[in-house]
Amino acid sequence: MSGDDQRDYDGYARLGLDRTGQAEAFDAIGDRYDEAFPHKEGQLDSGAWLARTLPPGSRVLDLGCGTGIPTARQLAEAGHDVVGVDISSGMLALARANVPGAHFVEADLATLRDGRLGSFDGVAAFFTLLMLPRPEIPHALRMLHGLLRPGGLLALSMVEADVDDFSMPFLGHSIRVSGYLRDELRQVVCEAGFEVAGESSPAYAPASTDVPPEIQLFFNLRRA
Ligand SMILES: C[S@@+](CC[C@H](N)C(=O)[O-])C[C@H]1O[C@@H](n2cnc3c(N)ncnc32)[C@H](O)[C@@H]1O
Repeated sequence: MSGDDQRDYDGYARLGLDRTGQAEAFDAIGDRYDEAFPHKEGQLDSGAWLARTLPPGSRVLDLGCGTGIPTARQLAEAGHDVVGVDISSGMLALARANVPGAHFVEADLATLRDGRLGSFDGVAAFFTLLMLPRPEIPHALRMLHGLLRPGGLLALSMVEADVDDFSMPFLGHSIRVSGYLRDELRQVVCEAGFEVAGESSPAYAPASTDVPPEIQLFFNLRRA
């Protein structure tokens, strides 16, 4: 870990983190999440970039893995050693059943800075950092920088939106989300020590009318 990463870990520890309701919402949503968000072409494309660019048998973290579909499964089927992490025990129960070949850990992502999961060749963080308040997101990215080996890859997605800890209805529950417009997100990831190897911004219409249409941002990143 670089000195910059260590200093940032100290800053992360000083943030007051309020996760009220976030895990409970996903515990209750369960596999309705996959029903509401079918046809994940953007996510599959970014996952495929990660799967094929990493050497075979790489150690990959699926951060906020949800049900394990499609990403943990895609990475495991490509022959990688997958560790999925999620704060929701309900989502993890589905993930363990969906992807028996991966290893799953119940944890708040902020706690991974203790290093207990070791280091990784790649990380997938699809629609996970948007569950954090904005001031935390640069710290979380720095933490991922610290967990990645030199040259490691990060496949990141967010929803494009200029919001911070915004409370919204989501499949009959309330969750808090944050986002950036694409230029600002690009700046945030670069300041956290990543180079952009590719990006896309597809429009996405969920299957459920409980969730509004969105512009998704996919960034394929390399640890600089
Ligand atoms: C929008 S879902 C995305 C799931 C999956 N990555 C996908 O793309 O299908 C966000 C996931 O992040 C998890 N999550 C939210 N806050 C978290 C935190 N602080 N630490 C770990 N996981 C978290 C939720 O439980 C949920 O499964």
